[in-house]
Amino acid sequence: GLNLSGKHFLTLLDFSTEEINYLLDLARDFKNLKRCGVPHRWLEGKNIVLLFEKTSTRTRCAFEVGGMDLGMGVTYLDPGSSQMGKKESIEDTARVLGRMYDGIEYRGFEQSVVEDLANNAGVPVWNGLTAQFHPTQALADVLTMQEEFGQDLRGRKLVFFGQVGNTASSLLVICAKLGINFTQVGPQADVPGNRTYPTELWEKCQEIAAKTGAILSVTDNIAEGVADADAVYTDVWVGMGQPAELWKDRIALLAPYRVTEEVMAMAKPDAIFLHCLPSFHDTNTTIGAEIAEQFGVTEMEVEDAVFESDASRVFQEAENRMHTIKAVMYATLK
Ligand code: CP
Repeated sequence: GLNLSGKHFLTLLDFSTEEINYLLDLARDFKNLKRCGVPHRWLEGKNIVLLFEKTSTRTRCAFEVGGMDLGMGVTYLDPGSSQMGKKESIEDTARVLGRMYDGIEYRGFEQSVVEDLANNAGVPVWNGLTAQFHPTQALADVLTMQEEFGQDLRGRKLVFFGQVGNTASSLLVICAKLGINFTQVGPQADVPGNRTYPTELWEKCQEIAAKTGAILSVTDNIAEGVADADAVYTDVWVGMGQPAELWKDRIALLAPYRVTEEVMAMAKPDAIFLHCLPSFHDTNTTIGAEIAEQFGVTEMEVEDAVFESDASRVFQEAENRMHTIKAVMYATLK
């Protein structure tokens, strides 16, 4: 059998197709146990610490509830209530926490920080989002697709609308690994302010895809990109921790790539809509209301009609964060 005990979960690039499928199988098992009310305190006696330099609803709660369901003690730390990053280096923080805890989750800015933690902690470190990757998200997204289309997703097509960021990069990786066709639909690469995949990541994923059969592409042509899509995915146009000044340019750049009912009509008839959340599908948030007032835009990356449609699986996807994160913790700590 597979043994992931002691392994870090940082980018998914160092997990084989078989290992990713094993994590997804485990997540499905955990979901069934939870649904049936069967206790699974299989990591009783262990303790984990969750480091969040950025805010979170889903990721934090998934790690907390997942950890508690597995019988573990859970500590939440943010920069305001710890020495992390200000009075104490990441290396020293890792060496201290590694002596007290059995696993460490980190959400923050640079990927190098989570790598530093992993290199110094001596216990498994899990990436709960960095500027470059969001691997636990990608796992939940694929579980949601499996629940819709079956476990073998080879030849299925996931289309990501918007800009390259941590979520798109992790989707690129997992699609390459699992043989899922991946198309990013967004502005042309040479438009000012547009972000593209780092060359090294793109080339690595193409190498992986050559073995699994995944077709990876980028296009600014909406109809071409979304044709034959099984899943249409998007993310907010300005990410966490990025300055509000970015909104004006980002809206101008990405407004043509909003996921609308017309876009969904160009995908396969049974295509689903996915979003990592939180979403600006309406202006029913403080930031959403501010943006609406400032820029006169009431819908952002996705129309409310799509977000609320029968095709939308966004809350199932959010729930799946917990089952997949539980699988990652169990596999690496057992
Ligand atoms: N999708 C996601 O990571 O959500 P949170 O920011 O709420 O954790």
